[in-house]
Amino acid sequence: MIKAVIFDLDGVIVDTAHYHFIAWQRLAHELGITFTEKENERLKGVSRMHSLEIILEIGGVTLPEAKKEELATKKNSWFVEYIEAIRPEEIFKGVKEMLQALRAQGFKVALASSSKNAETVLRLLQIKNLFDTVVDGTMVKNSKPDPEIFLLAASKLGVSPDVCVVFEDAEAGVEAALAAGMKCVGVGSANQLGKAHAIVKSTADFSISKLNSL
Ligand code: BG6
Ligand code: MG
Repeated sequence: MIKAVIFDLDGVIVDTAHYHFIAWQRLAHELGITFTEKENERLKGVSRMHSLEIILEIGGVTLPEAKKEELATKKNSWFVEYIEAIRPEEIFKGVKEMLQALRAQGFKVALASSSKNAETVLRLLQIKNLFDTVVDGTMVKNSKPDPEIFLLAASKLGVSPDVCVVFEDAEAGVEAALAAGMKCVGVGSANQLGKAHAIVKSTADFSISKLNSL
């Protein structure tokens, strides 16, 4: 029996994945590196520094650590600027109701995001109170595809991994959920998320009555 549902944030609850993309693309452009939406799939779910390293690898560029720190900070300042204006209305359609319904039906609900900005986004969206626990990029050593963040979420909820379902829009996130021994619903396209137990176009398209038949 499924007891808990764990949600990724960027791209699952709200379209902040797009703001990550445009900030990275702006940085890549400054570095003279062509960076497309297709290549961006590799960045979804992974940490800030690892994302930068993927872009540098695409461009065949090697930089010293201090320079990389400077660039990652620059990208983050753009991202923070872009999300300043996000409002609760931007939560994907039906997601808030889904979170409320899950808790009303007795499921534990967690947020597990690789982002160090997750608290800011939750505050702007005014939905932190809908989660029993929140784990983010400030609390883990290894980012997705490592299962650490999902295992931490399960342990904070007091449940074992095999009774958890994860909602993820990133290939790295699906891999992390599977590595954690959890069920996974992919939000997006089968091209990237084919390993998930089910795929939906949008988070709230998944009917919670199907949680136990994944
Ligand atoms: C994930 C995003 O949620 O957080 C990634 O999918 C992002 O694109 C990662 O790189 C880290 O985010 P931040 O806000 O800590 O730079
Ligand atoms: Mg995501």
